Amino acid sequence: MTRNSRQSSSCFHVVLALCGIGLPICPSAAQNSITVDKTRLEWRLDAGEMSYVFGVNEHSALQSLYWGTRLSADAELPKAHIAPDRASFDLSATNTPLEYAGWGEGLPVEPALKVDSPDGNRTLILNYSSSTVKDGVLEVVLKDATEPVAVHLFYQPFAQGVLARWSRIENTGQQPLRIEQAASATWNLPRGSGYAWSWLTGQWGAEWQLHTAPIVSGAQVIESRRGSTSHQANPWFAVGRQQETTETAGPVWFGELGWSGSWRMTVEDSALEQVRITAGYNPFDFSYTLKAGESLETPRFYAGFTSHGEGEASRILHRFQREAILPGRPDPRPRPIIYNSWEATGFDVTEQGQIALADKAAKLGVERFVIDDGWFGQRKSDNAGLGDWYVNTTKFPHGLKPVIDHVRSLGMDFGIWVEPEMVNPDSDLYRKHPDWVLNFPNRQRTEARQQLVLNLAREDVRAFVFDFLDKLVSENDIAFLKWDYNRNWTEPGWDLQSAGSGTANDAKEVYVRYVQNLYSILAELRRKHPKLEIESCSGGGGRVDLGILRYTDEVWPSDNTSALDRLVLQNGFTHAYTPEAMVAWVTDVPDYLNTSTVPLKFRFLVAMQGALGIGGNLSKWTPEMLEEGARLTSFYKTVRSTIQTGRLYWLTGADQGSPSQVEYVAQDGSQAVLFGYQPLQHYGLEYPQVALQGLDPNAQYRVRPLDAAKYMGDPVVSGSVLMGLGLRLDLRGVSDSSAVLLERIDPPK
Ligand code: DGJ
Repeated sequence: MTRNSRQSSSCFHVVLALCGIGLPICPSAAQNSITVDKTRLEWRLDAGEMSYVFGVNEHSALQSLYWGTRLSADAELPKAHIAPDRASFDLSATNTPLEYAGWGEGLPVEPALKVDSPDGNRTLILNYSSSTVKDGVLEVVLKDATEPVAVHLFYQPFAQGVLARWSRIENTGQQPLRIEQAASATWNLPRGSGYAWSWLTGQWGAEWQLHTAPIVSGAQVIESRRGSTSHQANPWFAVGRQQETTETAGPVWFGELGWSGSWRMTVEDSALEQVRITAGYNPFDFSYTLKAGESLETPRFYAGFTSHGEGEASRILHRFQREAILPGRPDPRPRPIIYNSWEATGFDVTEQGQIALADKAAKLGVERFVIDDGWFGQRKSDNAGLGDWYVNTTKFPHGLKPVIDHVRSLGMDFGIWVEPEMVNPDSDLYRKHPDWVLNFPNRQRTEARQQLVLNLAREDVRAFVFDFLDKLVSENDIAFLKWDYNRNWTEPGWDLQSAGSGTANDAKEVYVRYVQNLYSILAELRRKHPKLEIESCSGGGGRVDLGILRYTDEVWPSDNTSALDRLVLQNGFTHAYTPEAMVAWVTDVPDYLNTSTVPLKFRFLVAMQGALGIGGNLSKWTPEMLEEGARLTSFYKTVRSTIQTGRLYWLTGADQGSPSQVEYVAQDGSQAVLFGYQPLQHYGLEYPQVALQGLDPNAQYRVRPLDAAKYMGDPVVSGSVLMGLGLRLDLRGVSDSSAVLLERIDPPK
């Protein structure tokens, strides 16, 4: 490839440390760059170990040329060339891997864009027009052959090995133009068959269920039509080759969409073995009108590639999220150990009760005390009060100050629960503003948990929500908001017509405008209160995606806190998201969802897989439990940074009944921690010994077991032995668990 201009490369700052401990990432690959070849009309994006190339073909259309392992600096690819018609039933558009296909030109597969022009034309012919590089972002402009439509495609490579793609659709004419479908990007896999993909689905209390299946001819769709990301499917995918890809080896193409509203991801294999992955706004019930000169930007669709298996794909995402997505980027603050009383006291929160819990939490080593639902309005249950954000003076006669002061005097900071986007019909807010909720006038509307969704797309609602939150945080010493969202949209009506300010189609813009306003409130709050931290919760994991994670420090993955179920949920979660953002509480037994009873240590060791929290009723914990809890939180503090910012290796899968092991290695290689779980002992078999990963074979490690009696081995072991044989944990019987800390002796200079 001849280079006419080259954007600067930025070095991946931990690369030497990674190479020093034998990771497969080499320094030359650990960079990001944009290369523009104006003669051949080709663009190359390098990100970590991945290269991505596209060019202009003889029809002036943009065509994907390459997505895979990093190309050599002088690599030259065959020029973009339109594929021939296969038959009169499969024209070239079907099997040419178009970069961003407008519907038209014989394209029967999933388009990225579909518009309705005022002159009745409904097709697009998107031709290359120009390209520029600015601030590390490549922008390529396509223009329709005759219609006043410009499509701006954006590409931002990140050194962590991820490329962000998104688009902006612009009306360059005088008449309004209606968008019916707008994706962020289409990712074309190398042509061929034999692919399998993994995705995540779920339901309330059972999110993060991992599935893997062959990609077969036809389209497979995951989506949310619910107004938010959803428990039912998460916008993440990972594709491997059926015969080649495993947890530790083989190619993986992976990605995730950063959008917290309705979305759709289509994995489509044409009859001609061209697999395309397209995602963006969900076209269901969608419409967006661009007046003269207006534009619509689509969400970021992030993707990467590794040739080192599914585990490495997850680790790339984890590091990318920490360094490029989370609010504290590039080095987010460690997640504190939280106490939350929801499972202990429910709505029955009082000044005295919370102070008593705070005293016990502080002794356990908790760093942040959070009051959950029930502190405001006339909130005795979920029947009433949402929307009335004043302190309930029956429960807190002196306001929040005495509790907050007490919590602060114990050395913890203070957090509080809010559900800003919702209202109970039984609330002062609803009585005053019944027109603020999403619904269709004169139609029955569905309540869920006795609540309705405020239409955040409205400017007055947006202002109300921002103002009450700003006041709450300004007037109280609040370090943290748990931002909840406990239902989906059902009748997403926005009555613009009676207000005389829009048409029925304009009202469908609620899918975009609502989420944009949500993001803008979060951004403004954080700007005004830079120390404030926020958790995204939606009745558990209903709103977890790379859109919300740009504004929230952590997420609540599930209302299911059963340690046994969490083993599975957390395994699924960490395929797509960093353990740093994954809050996990130790709660009481028998578990409220599945009645399981597992020992306190087991519950702690499962909750330690991410950001540890405690949610049990501490007033009922015995002195022995409190002592054991304090021992375990103090162990967590010694390995927290490795868990939250290190590299995660699932040494086995995880399920509720089988032994599993998970390992974390610090980014600098100085420490590793291994957790072992045995929910059941099958057939009296010994607990399996599994080879560790990610260590330096040439280093020695001091082994510091959490429970001396559970470790059967030498105090110092070579990395090569640990990675060849593993480490013997003596777990026995039902619900046994342990952990081992490994300290590298003589760390590399
Ligand atoms: C759902 C959340 O997921 C729970 O943790 C708790 O905050 C409740 N809402 C409170 O209503």
